[in-house]
Amino acid sequence: MILGIESSCDETAAAVVRSGQELLASVVASQIATHSPYGGVVPELASREHLRSLVPVTRAALQKAGLTYEELDAIAVTSGPGLAGALLTGVSFAKSLAWALNKPLIAVNHIEGHIHAVLLEECQKAGDEIEFPVMALVVSGGHTHLFLAARSGESWHYENVGHTRDDAAGEAFDKTAKLLGLGYPGGPVIDRLARFGDAKAVKFTFAQLKHTARQPSKRAAQVRDGRKRFDFSYSGIKTAVLRYVELHEMFATIEKRRRALLEIASPSDEVLRDLCDQQTLDLVASFQAAVVGDLTRRTLAACEEYGVRTLLVSGGVAANSALRASFERRAPRAGLRACFPSRAMSTDNAAMIAAAAYPKWLGREFSGLELTAEANLQLR
Ligand code: KG4
Ligand code: ZN
Repeated sequence: MILGIESSCDETAAAVVRSGQELLASVVASQIATHSPYGGVVPELASREHLRSLVPVTRAALQKAGLTYEELDAIAVTSGPGLAGALLTGVSFAKSLAWALNKPLIAVNHIEGHIHAVLLEECQKAGDEIEFPVMALVVSGGHTHLFLAARSGESWHYENVGHTRDDAAGEAFDKTAKLLGLGYPGGPVIDRLARFGDAKAVKFTFAQLKHTARQPSKRAAQVRDGRKRFDFSYSGIKTAVLRYVELHEMFATIEKRRRALLEIASPSDEVLRDLCDQQTLDLVASFQAAVVGDLTRRTLAACEEYGVRTLLVSGGVAANSALRASFERRAPRAGLRACFPSRAMSTDNAAMIAAAAYPKWLGREFSGLELTAEANLQLR
């Protein structure tokens, strides 16, 4: 019975998972309302909100699971990567709990957590074993990574075979939405609006996408240490959207929309659509199609190169309907099984941290009280 704690960015979360598979409770306190007036996460405010929420969120998770602190077997916590101050709040809280309760402390990499969010739900489908080799695409506001995943005994190991050279895919969604006056976070809004636009209306040419839109299996894939790499780049498309907005003099309507949305707490799809002209809807649809197309092409090329049987797609952007549809359509044709977490498990939560901690519990990979937050923690 592992208690997971997550505070790496703008969600304070606690969850209890039994044996890495059975979700007993998952509570997430979102800070969207705190950060949205600024159009992005303000690190100082995030840390303060975590301090406020950690205790009530953990109590709520235990209450939901019907457990006392004493009945827990271990405390797992995200130790990185993420915002240093935000991570520190969770790590300090988890260390205090582990010390006071005299329970083992398990440090979990946030990216590994995202990968285990898929496994947690897939493992619940009885008799359904994951086939290796496994590729994990972790695509969120802070990360765009391709990892080849292997298991030896209970331990999981990861080899990075691709990552973004600049912006993460979720960051491109967020920055594009902000630029278009659509608020924060941008991914869900763009996802909802894209279906009203023509995805072929605006061509994001290869040059605008810099090196990302070239043929991934040939030119963009690089060889390092004899292993082919499949890197991404999403800062070019953000600039291309800005150029389009400048060229078509869209700033006045953007500002009007931005002001209107500040007054509406949770706008419906219809309200959002009414605040956008067709040109904006087409731009949004074309942007999403370009990013989704690039993520799919590059990931499938990497899977082909490494003879992968199972693809795990996780992280906030895995909630995107077009990305799911794209992989669901194209993965079977490539002889691949593509697995996604449910939408709630795609974005940050603590169930994924508790699930990723279970193999470490079995392998007795515990941390001491010297554990500290590592903003740039690598996954291996
Ligand atoms: O995993 P997550 O909650 O936090 C990080 O670890 O970054 O991911 C948040 C990111 C944000 O960039 C958000 O815009 C994006 O995931 N996101 C989406 C969708 N839902 C969340 N992007 C595209 N489509 C969505 N439906
Ligand atoms: Zn995340």
